[in-house]
Amino acid sequence: MADIETPRLQLRQFILDDFDNLFRLYSDAEVMKYLSLRTREQTQASLHKHIQHWQQHNFGMWAVIHKDSSKLIGRCGLGFLENTPEVELGYVFDKSYWNMGLGTEASQATLQYGFKELKLERIVAIAKPDNIASVRVIQKIGMKYQKNAHYYGHDVVYYAISRSEWQPDDSLI
Ligand SMILES: CC(C)(COP(=O)(O)OP(=O)(O)OC[C@H]1O[C@@H](n2cnc3c(N)ncnc32)[C@H](O)[C@@H]1OP(=O)(O)O)[C@@H](O)C(=O)NCCC(=O)NCCS
Repeated sequence: MADIETPRLQLRQFILDDFDNLFRLYSDAEVMKYLSLRTREQTQASLHKHIQHWQQHNFGMWAVIHKDSSKLIGRCGLGFLENTPEVELGYVFDKSYWNMGLGTEASQATLQYGFKELKLERIVAIAKPDNIASVRVIQKIGMKYQKNAHYYGHDVVYYAISRSEWQPDDSLI
């Protein structure tokens, strides 16, 4: 089970003690505007799923730690797109850390892990079209628009990148 580092972030496995930090994210209406707010019980279930997913599939969501402050500031990683075998990039960051390039940094590292370590052929990402920051991250990491689609009960834009299209980012350590 891999922990990885980027210049500003540590991406590590979730532990049960992360509950309070995860709940702070998942119960913040601004952070979850394009997702679904989660109760304490739902967050506890999500935390267990994040941990179990790694054990079952050798990939999953990392807890994102800001190296300078040692704070848990988000989660980012890979999962299965709803009802498909496709592997999907996902991320949620604390709003105090938005627009500093951290979402892009963590996402690039996630693609690198997916293509170099897991040898995946393709990674996809979806976002509601009005989630401009998310769509922008998806575009910045080189994913290409494929179609409009419907997942998790919402109309979304669906992007993808294949291993052959992916360009490693030399700034990642
Ligand atoms: C999506 C998210 C992870 C992005 O993280 P981030 O660290 O802010 O991302 P970055 O700083 O790497 O990039 C954000 C980009 O969006 C742009 N952006 C953000 N809000 C914008 C707006 N209202 N209008 C135009 N551009 C905007 C930023 O300028 C930046 O692009 P740039 O580098 O070209 O200037 C973060 O906004 C988040 O956690 N959102 C809530 C959870 C969420 O919606 N997750 C995705 C579900 S699909």
